[in-house]
Amino acid sequence: MADTAVRYDFVIAANRLPVDRVVGEDGQVEWHRSPGGLVTAMESVMSGRDGVWVGWAGEPGEAPEPFDEAGMRLHPVPLSEDEIEGYYEGFCNDTLWPIYHDVIVPAQFHRKWWNQYREVNERFARTLAEVAEQGATVWVHDYQLQLVPAFLRQLRPDLRIGWFDHIPFPPVELFGQLPWRQGILEGLLGADFLGFQRPGDAENFLRACRRYLGMTVKGDVIHVGKATGGHDVRAAAVPISVDFASMDELSRRPEVKKRAKEIRESLGNPSALLLGIDRLDYTKGIRHRLKAYEELLKDGSLDGADTTFIQIATPSRERIDAYIDLREHVEGAVGRINGNYSAIGSPAMEYLHQGYGREELAALFLAADVMVVTPLRDGMNLVAKEYIACRHDNGGALLLSEFTGAAEELREAFMVNPHDIIGLKRTIMDAINASPQERSRRMRALRRRVRRHDVQHWAQAFLAALEAAPDKPSRQGQQ
Ligand code: ADP
Ligand code: G6P
Repeated sequence: MADTAVRYDFVIAANRLPVDRVVGEDGQVEWHRSPGGLVTAMESVMSGRDGVWVGWAGEPGEAPEPFDEAGMRLHPVPLSEDEIEGYYEGFCNDTLWPIYHDVIVPAQFHRKWWNQYREVNERFARTLAEVAEQGATVWVHDYQLQLVPAFLRQLRPDLRIGWFDHIPFPPVELFGQLPWRQGILEGLLGADFLGFQRPGDAENFLRACRRYLGMTVKGDVIHVGKATGGHDVRAAAVPISVDFASMDELSRRPEVKKRAKEIRESLGNPSALLLGIDRLDYTKGIRHRLKAYEELLKDGSLDGADTTFIQIATPSRERIDAYIDLREHVEGAVGRINGNYSAIGSPAMEYLHQGYGREELAALFLAADVMVVTPLRDGMNLVAKEYIACRHDNGGALLLSEFTGAAEELREAFMVNPHDIIGLKRTIMDAINASPQERSRRMRALRRRVRRHDVQHWAQAFLAALEAAPDKPSRQGQQ
């Protein structure tokens, strides 16, 4: 039974639901946690809040009926096999993802994909229009749903519509390559408030509106002409974060501490344990960090029998060519490093292409001497903040790429330019050799920052900005 008759005051829309529907070999339906930072953040925001999450359940074909899972009401939107190829793998992840991440790999442009993107966005907007109560707050997420705000405003002008960009917003020179740049900007301008990770992302968006739509921008407010709605839209940075308290609590549990010790023991108690945790994505700079590590082993700065690098690489977008190439490259490098530098019982590398539970991740964070975060471009990077939240011992060292959103806030990390392999090697050694006092000084400052600016703080800041957004056309009309 569809529950379109039930309406909600608080609605969020993301391409993915927080769980994926997986049918096991025995035909049993199981729900697995979906990958990525968006889900981690919004799960924390939604727990304890009355509302509904609208999104895709991760399988082709008809959508399951709305259901409850992990204390949340979930409302699936269907995607056909053809739409998974054209809208999701195609336009979202082979057109927009590369353009929004500095064209690390070339972007593909296909008119069919764009048409499918429009159709799916319109479907999301129609579903949202059905489930939202009069005057409800609708919070739309990420690059997959940039046309939803305008479609939804047309259908339901009474709603308060916000959109948050979890990834970077590109400079105009890159955004301008998109043949559909105008349509995307107009889609976003259906919102009342647009949130970005960094001030630079909001500025890029404002510049694109000036350049490609000829709009008037005053400060961070854009005045949208009558033809496209006649309202004001604010665009500003509201950097996302993690659930500090729950990660901190998790990492203090005796069983997690015990597991952290076991992890080190199982690797032969190396003097230095390095850790990378990422989706297997070319934006994360995994190749660069492995290159630096291999060179450090080769030139004798590190001893493979006494150093281990654990790389956890969550499977991601596995049918897209750039991801297939990356996997081959990374797995080749891991095999070579282990073949050349491991000793029996003391691997130079431990590579795991699997998803893990929060407890195991917390134990890994606690076990690692150096957390290696080297994206070539990343909207925020929640893993860096999770590492900090788990280091209640004020130990460990965070090595962080300056091309992450996190680098704007986490100034006390060991900063790197991952393209500079010599600098990367030097900073890995600095992080390994830092004195306990220096590590502790840095980690205390990092923890103060993340504790204060946690995910709840982020959600409140976003929702307050949305509520205070400059223009309230229909609500003013109602008074
Ligand atoms: P992205 O959103 O690009 O994947 P983030 O670092 O912002 O990158 O967020 C990744 C999220 O996914 C974090 O919450 C992290 O803990 C989680 N995660 C990463 N790898 C795994 C894994 N192998 N198993 C479970 N969760 C993972
Ligand atoms: C990033 C994006 C999310 C996305 C996630 C996982 O965090 O910002 O929107 O959901 O990666 O990617 P996937 O393609 O598996 O949804």
